[in-house]
Amino acid sequence: MNQSRFSVCVILGTRPEAIKLATVIEELRNSPDIKTYVVLTGQHREMVDEVMSLFEIIADRDLDIMKPQQTLTEITCNSLQGLEKVFAELKPDFVLVQGDTSTAFAAALAAFYNQIPVGHVEAGLRTDNLFNPFPEEANRRLISQIAQFHFAPTEIAVKNLERSGVVGEIHQTGNTVIDALLTVANNNPVCEIPHLDWQKYRVLLATVHRRENWGEPLQNILQGFHSILDSFPDTVLVLPMHRNPVVRKPIQESLGKRDRVFLTEPLDYKQLVGAIASCYFLLTDSGGLQEEAPSLGKPVLVLRDNTERPEAVTAGTAKLIGTNPDNIYAHAKELLSDENAYRKMANAINPFGDGLASKRIVEIIQAYFNS
Ligand code: UD1
Repeated sequence: MNQSRFSVCVILGTRPEAIKLATVIEELRNSPDIKTYVVLTGQHREMVDEVMSLFEIIADRDLDIMKPQQTLTEITCNSLQGLEKVFAELKPDFVLVQGDTSTAFAAALAAFYNQIPVGHVEAGLRTDNLFNPFPEEANRRLISQIAQFHFAPTEIAVKNLERSGVVGEIHQTGNTVIDALLTVANNNPVCEIPHLDWQKYRVLLATVHRRENWGEPLQNILQGFHSILDSFPDTVLVLPMHRNPVVRKPIQESLGKRDRVFLTEPLDYKQLVGAIASCYFLLTDSGGLQEEAPSLGKPVLVLRDNTERPEAVTAGTAKLIGTNPDNIYAHAKELLSDENAYRKMANAINPFGDGLASKRIVEIIQAYFNS
């Protein structure tokens, strides 16, 4: 019988973690030497289950912590306590976390308390503003201090880690989101939304969910969307809504009854990739979309004042436009009316990866075990 010599426990809780770890899990499972456990904290439910089934990942344990209107303290404490038990039972040799969510932070801390080496996928992103994005900037800094393997997507991320004085090995691997995106995009997925004719209109794809945009900034963003729709009758807005009622309710109140607006449930990942491929450009406060859209040649207007992904701005694929409605309108207008400006953003080269990040990460873990 084939006996695995080492075990890796991959922890995830939210949709972006599931997407960005899916191909790493697949790669780990293809390594005969490694026994792979997948543990869900359950910080998200439906939004993660959908990605798990798309990538055919079955969880070995599920802490099932999600509650309505959950606080950061609840997510952190429940994950930390649950993972202590899971680690005692599974005794993993290595723990892998991704990104900057509260799940990732709690999982890294739980592993550290048990003296299990932590590998951090997508390490080294920084805005240098502790409260923006909140709490993600703090989460990723805290993880960096206790991780022993830092899988940095880009050269800038490597430099950020070096100046943070982290302990352990830093490796530039590319971002695993490109691996996942290319896997799905290869099958040319389409996004079907009832009554929407993608050929007839220029479709603007929008998402908004960040904590620092809750309240007034969100109202401003929505006002910006109204102005765009008012001035450009050949546009429609597709806005997949996050499941959190704090963002969902104001969106429905503001845009629910408007013509040329399609408010949908969160799109499953295949549909999302189809939507990116078919839209004209994106307006978003999401981090992942800033990385994904350039791979499919779509400009991104980032509804934030700063970004931990300056590579996209430098490469010209994304613009930071904040949440001021006039600004949102002005930047959208430029892309909708000036073909040269549009082409410049659409043709820029994606700086985030080549689709081989997962392979590199697993090779590094394997080399660590072999040594
Ligand atoms: C979390 C992450 C954020 C990431 C985002 C992706 C933290 C602190 N934040 O933010 O970094 O960009 O996920 O979506 O870790 N809900 C459901 N079903 C789901 C998912 C969420 O009903 O499948 C609702 C719940 O009521 C929950 C609320 O959404 O209370 C907010 O979820 P939470 O994980 O606390 O924060 P996010 O805004 O999703």
